[in-house]
Amino acid sequence: MARTGRPKVSVIGAGHVGATLAMRIAESGLADVVMVDIVEGMPQGKALDLSEARPILGQDVTIVGTNDYALIEGSDIVVTTSGVPRKPGMSRDDLIEINSKIAKDVATNLKKFAPDAIIIQVANPLDAITYVIAEITGVPKNKIMGMAGILDTARYRYFIAEELGVSVKDVFGVVLGGHGDSMVPLPRLTTVGGVPLPELLPEEKIEAIVERTRKGGAEIVSLLKTGSAYYAPSAATWEMVKAILRDEKRILPVAAYLNGEYGIQGLFVGVLAVLGKEGVEKIWEVPLKPDELEALKKSADHVKALVEKVDALGIL
Ligand code: NAI
Ligand code: 2OP
Repeated sequence: MARTGRPKVSVIGAGHVGATLAMRIAESGLADVVMVDIVEGMPQGKALDLSEARPILGQDVTIVGTNDYALIEGSDIVVTTSGVPRKPGMSRDDLIEINSKIAKDVATNLKKFAPDAIIIQVANPLDAITYVIAEITGVPKNKIMGMAGILDTARYRYFIAEELGVSVKDVFGVVLGGHGDSMVPLPRLTTVGGVPLPELLPEEKIEAIVERTRKGGAEIVSLLKTGSAYYAPSAATWEMVKAILRDEKRILPVAAYLNGEYGIQGLFVGVLAVLGKEGVEKIWEVPLKPDELEALKKSADHVKALVEKVDALGIL
């Protein structure tokens, strides 16, 4: 594949999240895209379909689908969406064994073909699979992060905007912690048009929104019945790709490696971070109240337990 002057993003897994992400990147003209999947013909077919939309969209980015990892060589960013999604009744954590094995295969190929790329990891359980890929590739910790916080925060912001009947653009909120039921939405730090959320909605309404946010992924799974959300997840991943490629220095919630921040050591956990051309350029540590910090640490403990499960699989 000829290299153009444009940035190059490879997406591993050309399923729902991967292909929709490729579409978003192509439609916004952000980068050339390579989609890799193990299913023969499928990434090639989706790439051809996406390419045939280019004349209508007026985008000259190249979109290639392949089963050959060699084509990811020279990628600026690799996004890993390769993994099984959950079915109704399953938790994200139930995917740990199968998705850790897939992650091992993927990470081995990343190490071989794109060792310098920044990695955005999406497969579930998010924080633990990010650990697997970080361990096997050995990339510097600023160059690997997981996507979940932007998605969880977007759900939270959407529910608030709907409740108040205002634009989603004017709701600022943040959700920290692992990507699971223990995630930590922070109403105290949520503002709508500059007004703190607790001054706008009664406590029980806020609690209901927080609970719906925590269960946001499961709500979609129970409606779809086959597979999980992908439109909002691909939009969230696209925002990270853009922040890095354009060196935007955006402060975004991502699963970043913590080295003592918030008293958490050696784990990927959802926190605010500055994203730019170096990947995670800085952890943006938010002063938390004791109960908020306790909730974040509890969420980190859950991630730690999952990482121990990965270690027990003996695949690293
Ligand atoms: P999907 O089943 O539509 O796509 C996954 C793709 O990965 C499939 O096409 C499959 O063939 C491919 N794949 C499997 N093993 C591979 C390998 N070794 N190399 C390359 N490709 C491989 O699933 P979907 O909906 O795209 O979700 C993907 C993953 O992302 C799931 O684990 C899901 O739980 C997770 N997810 C995480 C989110 C988050 O917020 N972090 C949000 C949405 C999904
Ligand atoms: C979600 O929250 C599947 O984790 C994904 O929708």
